[in-house]
Amino acid sequence: MTTDATPPSKLGSSFLNRFCKQSLLDSPTYSIDKFTAEIKIDQNEMPWDWPKKHKEAVAANLVGAAWNRYPDAHSIELNAKLADHLGVAENSLLTSSGSDSILTMLLRGFGNTKIIGLDPSFPVTKIQAGVHDLRFAAWPLDENFQFDLDKIPEIEPGSLVIFASPNNPTGSVLELSALKRLLSSHPDSLFIADEAYAEFHDQDAKALLAQFPNLLSLRTLSKAWASAGLRFGYALGDPAIIAELKKFRLPYAVNAFSSCAVEYFTQNKEIQTWSQSKVSSVKSLIKTFSGETAAIGTAAGWKVHPTAANFFLLSVAETTEVPLLYNHLKTHGILVRNVSQGKGLERCLRFSCGSPEQIDKALLALKAYVG
Ligand SMILES: Cc1ncc(COP(=O)(O)O)c(C=O)c1O
Repeated sequence: MTTDATPPSKLGSSFLNRFCKQSLLDSPTYSIDKFTAEIKIDQNEMPWDWPKKHKEAVAANLVGAAWNRYPDAHSIELNAKLADHLGVAENSLLTSSGSDSILTMLLRGFGNTKIIGLDPSFPVTKIQAGVHDLRFAAWPLDENFQFDLDKIPEIEPGSLVIFASPNNPTGSVLELSALKRLLSSHPDSLFIADEAYAEFHDQDAKALLAQFPNLLSLRTLSKAWASAGLRFGYALGDPAIIAELKKFRLPYAVNAFSSCAVEYFTQNKEIQTWSQSKVSSVKSLIKTFSGETAAIGTAAGWKVHPTAANFFLLSVAETTEVPLLYNHLKTHGILVRNVSQGKGLERCLRFSCGSPEQIDKALLALKAYVG
């Protein structure tokens, strides 16, 4: 097996150089620091795992399932239960292994004209647009990392406009009134609202779907549902668009384990209540965490950006401070996300919400750094 450390074989590199698109060779691989830490607040996950009794119930169901058999190729039963849980029509729903896999389906399916992608944002869209050799135009945020409609590149008919709201890593939001204006004025383009963090905010684009067939909402179980390990996401949108998109979904995209766990979630009121209460906790904890970080860093010239999600973005005073603070936190057992490679984010680190104890420790470490 070839690993990253294995030099490419002669045959391999000659094949790549002669037959592979330059756009692929030029594309970076999605990267993430592979450190573990006592306080892991780097991936916008929930700080709490599912309660053990519910994990055990899912495990018992899984033991009863036939592992030698393929799961349902199109997740039909699962989709019916999820659609019922979400209060949407089954034909407006597409499920797959993680919402990032749906993003790539969208690019392959509908990305032939032009991709307009928010930048800085979740990097998968831009990377995958490059991998697929698609025309990509960046939609920049304003100097305070807020959405700015005047900065959208020309939306040609047929464009795919992809934005995360709340946006990762900035936490900023595209107001629904602005989204409505865009949808009405560009009926020939498809707008993808990546709403991975919608549950932490008090508005989402779901209400607009019935009115605007040129809108899709992408959702994930990785964040508010505390289920990143399951790899499960879904898209909501116009049934005609969803039907075409389904052709890009590989059969069996949702495996037996994920299927079992998601089905359990949709049927079990207790785990749903647990999840809702955890989302409420995060909404208040992130206010405390970001507010206290701002207070700690005032004299040091730090800026904490307002957030509608389960994380916040911190700008420190100088770019040279980014690795210093990152490493200081690491030595205190705290892993945050160094996002300084992103466009305009040279002075930034991203902090996900932790448990109250984790937040207390992180705040102590921040105080120690500032001195
Ligand atoms: C905006 C945004 N969209 C999508 C994802 C990926 O979601 P999933 O785990 O469902 O692939 C993330 C993950 O961090 C994200 O920040």
